[in-house]
Amino acid sequence: MTPRAQTIQAVRSEPSSLDEFAQAVLKGLSAPRKRLPCQYFYDAVGSMLFEEITRLEEYYPTRTETAILHAHAPSIAGPSGRDAVLVEFGSGSSRKTELVLAALAAPRAYVPIDVSVSALSDAWARLELRFPGLDIIPVNASFWEALRLPARVLAHGKLGFFPGSTIGNFDPPDAGRLLMHFARVLGSPSRLIVGVDLEKDPQRLVAAYDDAKGVTARFNLNLLERINRELGGDFDVARFAHRAIYDQEFKRIEMHLVSRARQTAQVLGRSFSFAEGETIHTENSYKYSVEQFRAVARGAGWQPAGLWMDANRDFSVHELVLPQARAADGV
Ligand code: AVI
Repeated sequence: MTPRAQTIQAVRSEPSSLDEFAQAVLKGLSAPRKRLPCQYFYDAVGSMLFEEITRLEEYYPTRTETAILHAHAPSIAGPSGRDAVLVEFGSGSSRKTELVLAALAAPRAYVPIDVSVSALSDAWARLELRFPGLDIIPVNASFWEALRLPARVLAHGKLGFFPGSTIGNFDPPDAGRLLMHFARVLGSPSRLIVGVDLEKDPQRLVAAYDDAKGVTARFNLNLLERINRELGGDFDVARFAHRAIYDQEFKRIEMHLVSRARQTAQVLGRSFSFAEGETIHTENSYKYSVEQFRAVARGAGWQPAGLWMDANRDFSVHELVLPQARAADGV
């Protein structure tokens, strides 16, 4: 482990456990409708495949959001003024962050929060070169963890950053709970910038999640490979297929792994049977209208403020504001 990665280890607030993954897999595969949580896509192989997805022709969200951030970085960063602390939830490669950091006036610190030590240390090395003197404080944690920001940034204004429409991977009530959690982590006053994918032609949506090169299929199937690698499972991965569908009622893309045949797989001494055509539901990706997302944000205590979109209205970047708490609010 590099010295940089060791430092990151030291700030992790809760140890990640294999046990958590094992429990989630056993629970999800025992359910009447089998499911696996999408957070487990992102092991080293899955993270590489996701990076590949973000560069696909069909996968418009990343390049569209990047173009919005590029065009509007001064208005997005401006209200934070000097000395702001940028806190990114699920920072991954921190690529889009550079656009915001470059537009902030003398940022006080950058706090990337991510479950991957290697993503944090790679981003740290790159950002240190691009922004010499910036205090970078990586936190190796899930963005759901009840973490306290480092003491040395507490007195400064916070700008939260949650790009990529990761918010869309949660059912709307959970998305609301996550936004409430971010409010607790950031404290008031603070601002939060959230990237949110918008409703559009279902054909374009399905193509974005079922690309011609099959990268998303590999990304989805890697979840079974991960179970085989880490939990000693014996899934015959070739006997499962990737499926992406758009559910008009819930306004979400659903990803599934479809059993191509009647079969059984063993995981941690338990046996799971699959009928031909039975699926494991692996991901939801909700698509919002601007008003629907704003309603979720309001319900979580945030005030919607700025809004930036591309000309095609494919993707939206929202500014949410948490006003200064009054003493009686006890926040
Ligand atoms: C990370 N998340 C916002 C992606 C999405 O679009 O829901 C994950 C993804 N799944 C398949 N392709 C991309």
